[in-house]
This record gives sequence, C-alpha cells and structure tokens, in this order.
Amino acid sequence: MSKEIRKILVTSALPYANGPIHIGHLVEYIQTDIWVRFQKQRGHNCHYVCADDAHGTPIMLRAQQEGITPEQLIADTWTQHNADFSDFNVAFDNFYSTHSDETRHFAELIYNRLHEQGHIHNKTITQAYDPVKEMFLPDRFIKGECPKCGAADQYGDNCEVCSATYSPTDLINAVSAVSGETPIEKESEHYFFKLANFEAMLKEWTHSGHLQEQVANKLNEWFEVGLQDWDISRDTPYFGFEIPNAPGKFFYVWLDAPVGYMGSFKNLCDRSDLDFDEYWGKDSQTELYHFIGKDIVYFHALFWPAMLTGAGFRTPTAIFSHGFLTVNGEKMSKSRGTFIKARTYLDHLNPEYLRYYFAAKLSSRVEDIDLNFEDFSQRVNTDLVNKVVNIASRCSGFIKKRFDGLLSAECAEPALFQEFIDANEAIAEHYEGREYGKAMRAISALADKANQYIDDKQPWVLAKQDGGDAELHAICSMGINLFYVIAAYLKPVVPDMVGKAETFLNAGELTWPNQLTPLTDHGINKFKPLMTRVDPDKLAALIEASKENLEKITTPVKAKQTPKESTEKTDMIEFDDFAKIDLRVALIEKAEHVEGADKLLRLTLSLGDETRQVLAGIKSAYSPEDLEGRLTVMVANLKPRKMRFGVSEGMVLAAGPGGDEIWILSPDNGAQPGMRVK
Ligand code: MSP
Ligand code: ZN
Repeated sequence: MSKEIRKILVTSALPYANGPIHIGHLVEYIQTDIWVRFQKQRGHNCHYVCADDAHGTPIMLRAQQEGITPEQLIADTWTQHNADFSDFNVAFDNFYSTHSDETRHFAELIYNRLHEQGHIHNKTITQAYDPVKEMFLPDRFIKGECPKCGAADQYGDNCEVCSATYSPTDLINAVSAVSGETPIEKESEHYFFKLANFEAMLKEWTHSGHLQEQVANKLNEWFEVGLQDWDISRDTPYFGFEIPNAPGKFFYVWLDAPVGYMGSFKNLCDRSDLDFDEYWGKDSQTELYHFIGKDIVYFHALFWPAMLTGAGFRTPTAIFSHGFLTVNGEKMSKSRGTFIKARTYLDHLNPEYLRYYFAAKLSSRVEDIDLNFEDFSQRVNTDLVNKVVNIASRCSGFIKKRFDGLLSAECAEPALFQEFIDANEAIAEHYEGREYGKAMRAISALADKANQYIDDKQPWVLAKQDGGDAELHAICSMGINLFYVIAAYLKPVVPDMVGKAETFLNAGELTWPNQLTPLTDHGINKFKPLMTRVDPDKLAALIEASKENLEKITTPVKAKQTPKESTEKTDMIEFDDFAKIDLRVALIEKAEHVEGADKLLRLTLSLGDETRQVLAGIKSAYSPEDLEGRLTVMVANLKPRKMRFGVSEGMVLAAGPGGDEIWILSPDNGAQPGMRVK
C-alpha cells in the first residue's frame, strides 16, 4: 500500500503575550499537537507553527505597570511560553512572535493590496479618551456601574452580574481603568476594512466544507445581521505596527495576529528548504489548517479568509474550532484553585496525564470539555497505568529472568496480532477526524483484549510448572508484541511514555502500525516503570498552589490604588473579611472512618437546627470514638466542596503541626451547638 505523502501546514491560535499559559489554553495546543504528531507518525510532511500575539493596548499597559518596555515584556513572556509548551511536549516546528519583520512585511503587504483595491476606507468616529493618560480607551479599560442592574465595577461592554451588553457611554459614573479619571469623548479618524465587499465569497466559502457544521450555522446569524465594516486602526500610543502612509495610526492587534501564522512560517522557510509560496500562494495545492477556540471564530472564518482573498493568497483548507475548558463543571476560578497555570501544573504532575485526559475527552465538536479531578485520576490510573503499562510489566519480568531478555522465535497468535494491526485504519480515522475520545476507547479496548489474553493463559501458573517454559516464553512474548502495537497507537498522545516504551522494546522509533510485524527472536531492554499512578497528594497540592487572592483577578488593571492597600502588610485582612466567616459551635454527633482514605474522618456535625457532613483530615490524631459527643468549632459558611471521598460541607478548626499532634478546638462548658463564635 503506497500512499501519497501530504504536505500540511498546521497552526494553533497565537497566545497573548501578557499572561501565562494555563490549562484552558492547553486544550488547544495539546489537541493540535496530537494531530500533528499523528500526521508525522504516518509519514506525512506536516509543519506546525505558532507565535506569541505580542501587540495591543493590554500589553502596552502591562509593560508600563511593570516599568519595562513592551519589547522586554514580550521577550520574557516568550521565554516562559516556550518553556511551558516544550515541557508539555507541544512540539512546534516554529514558535515565533507577531512582533517580527516577517509579520510586519505580510501585514503591510496585505493591507496595501486591500487598500489598492478599494477595500479600505476612512471614517471619523467618537471614542472614549483618557485625558490624563492621553490615550483612547478600549471598552475593557472603562469601568463603571451597570446601566441595567447598577452593579459596581463593571467593564465597558458587558455586565458580569446581569450579563447585559451595552456601550461604554451607557455606564454610570464611568472611569478610566488606567488613570481612574472620567473619560471624555474625542473624535479620531479610523481605517475600516469593508467586509461586506466579500459577502458573496464568504457565503460560498463558509458553506463548502471548510468549517464544522455548528460553526457554519453560527455564521449564518452574522450574515443575516449583515457584514459590518471592521475597524482595523488604533491611535497612538499603541504597541504594534504603524499603518503605511498613516502616521500615528497603528494596525489593530487582530489585523496582524493571523498574519503571524504567515510570519512564523516564513521564518521557518528561511531556515529550511520549505517554499513559502507552495503553502500560501493563491494556487497552493497543500493543506492549511487552523486550530482555534470557539471565541475567535469570527476573526478566523470571516475576516481572515476575506483578507487573504482580497490580497491574493490562498484560504485555509479548514478551521477546526474547539470548546472551552471547565474545571469540575465550572469556569476556571482562582479562588477555587482551578485556574491552573501550565507551570504550576508542571511543578506537581506529569504533563502526559493531562495530554491523555484531554485526548480521552476531545471530539471534533465545538463542545466545552470538563476537567474533573476524580475522573482525571481514574482515567489515567485505570486506562494508562493499570491497563496499558501493566501489559508490559506483567510479561517483561519473565522474559528478562527466564529467557535472557529474548522474545520467542515465533509469534504465538498471529491472528490476534493481525487483529491489533487491522484496528489501525479505524484508529487513524478517529485521529484524522479529531475524534480522539473514540481513538482512546478503541485503543483501550485493545488493551483489554491483551490483558484478557494474559489472564486466560496465566503465565504465572506456567512459570511454576516443570516443562512450562516454551509456552511461558510464547505467551509473554505475545503479550509484549501486543503492547508494542498499543504503544504505537498512543504515541501521538503520550510521546514521553512511548519514548520510554521504545527504549524498552529496543525496536527503534514506533511508526504507524499498518505494516508492523511481530518482534521475534528479538532482545528487549530492562523494563522500567513507564508511568506511575496519579498521586492524590500532589493533585491536592496543585489545587492549593493554584489558589489566589480573589481580588487580583477581578481587576486586570489596577483601577485606583488606595494608599491603604499599598502600605499595609499584604497578609492582613479587613474586618469585613473576618466578618464574612461564619464560625459556629458544633456537636460531633458521629465520627466514622472513610473507606480508602488514609487521613480523613467523616464527621456528622450538629448546629442545633441542621446537620453537616464534614470530611476532616484528623484521622492521624483521633479515633472516631474519641470524638463522638464532643463540641468543636466549625466554619459554617464554607461552600460545599467535592472531594475525592465525597462532599464536605464545612471545616472543623484544629491546631497543631500534624500527625498525632492535632488538637481540635473545643469551646468551654455552656456553649451550645449552633452558637455563633465571635
Ligand atoms: N491572541 C488571540 C488569538 C490570535 S490567533 C491569530 C487569543 N489569545 S488567547 O491567549 O486568549 O487564546 C489563545 C487560544 O486559547 C484561543 O484559541 C482560545 O480560544 C484558547 N483558549 C483560551 N482559554 C481557553 C479555555 N479556557 N478553554 C479552551 N481554550 C481556551 O485569543
Ligand atoms: Zn448589570
């Protein structure tokens, strides 16, 4: 079967250069990386480029806040992003920056061509202006009270409390989030891209197989409203590229951002023998794919194809859009410890756990995916460690000890081996169609089969019988061969783990198993654990380390710093914060062991008129019978928390360094359950 070698260029959206990579971003980069690794493993000519999205007002202001130049800020961020990606095994062929000569070149080229053909026009508009900072204010840098519900401290475009959308001029008592000053209205000339000139082209393009159905349907709504002119200029001061022949006017960040895909690829071409025009020229025969999140569909499925067409470049083969990550069913939250930075994750857990988990959850649809920590541990432990790794570890010991590390001369069950190989087409189709969840289930089913085979043959029984050697050898060799195929299928998802498997199998790099033949008479290396189970303590530590003071997130730019805030010790709290904690006297009605938990006791606490279940980490210091009938103090208004062993509806106060030195706090005689502690 000789197959044509495809030429493919793949991109992921360019992360903004003003913040760290978090696990939400990673959905996209891992999704794309798996796809690219799969294509490469199949022998295709696939190139994966990305870059930091380095321009815009937030980056400019952020740099000012930190007292550095924007160039310094984006350079530092690039270094961090690059390290995060490579530690998650996201293997770009080039990770570049939009603040580059290449991107400037193509942004100007595209703009000039659009301009020449009459697709750009000027219009004077009125905008909010910060008279102190002397700059125009983007909507998100204006704050005030919501015109609908009156909620304080809302952004200029929508209210986080009542979800109303409005324009910044509707805000009550609006202030600039940069200076705290009341903005004024000011006129300025802006440059617009006439998107409506491309209506026919876009209607055709968006409905001819380049987009997921859900996305194409969504775009219909926009066509119905009518395509609006797109404001592509921003006034100085702005960090970006100045528009040709328009002093003081800069390209809006979203104009040069997608051009960054070209810039990064051009930079790669200049360092290799790749031909830029072969991939971007009008008549290009190669494939071009953009992986993006659902929030940026508008830019990629309307503006971008229109810009490319207007400027004489090819359009993408397809745009693959994915949903958003939620954690334990909710938006990522810093206070709950679920806003997890890539680096914090890496400090605690193996990145391939997350790669595998995302793979197991991802499909080709634009649906949100949920990271649930219980599910996460369970899938990794059950599917990867117990099922897959186990096949190798069950068989390798015998091969090493009894047969000198040499696999048997013949394959014991050629039909079974062939069955594993024949699965390759269906699995390849799943990967190709971004149905990774289906691919993981198909691979898992093979792992079940392999384990079943070993269970049926019971090598450990044969090992104790006289004369069982030949069969023992055949069975364990067969087990290793089945593992060999499974490892190859998993390679795009868990490249590190499979890298270790490659060393163990000693058979070179695992290619796509459509033509694999069994390893016979072949020496394998010593088996080392390929992956360990998720350590619940490390998982808990990750969540703890991700918790941040809530105040920091609600204000991306510090509005007004009150002197109080900046001079006081940061770990002091206001009286109001203290007053929020509802401390109550509680009667321990019942205390029980929690099955499987080393540290926890389940307490049934009575507050007089209600009871609470609390999981308390005090097992090392107390037996249940020591506690029943005693009074203690609890935090009664802590949001119920779902833990590995159930929901905990509060917290008991205790002191001490840990181990058997933990003492729960007990009120004096006379206190009654439910009494408020003040
Ligand atoms: N800079 C723009 C993209 C320009 S592309 C020419 C941008 N940057 S971003 O940093 O906000 O997001 C980068 C990518 O990560 C986007 O595709 C976005 O959808 C994705 N995600 C960011 N947060 C996400 C989740 N919580 N969940 C899943 N994907 C998310 O947008
Ligand atoms: Zn509101």
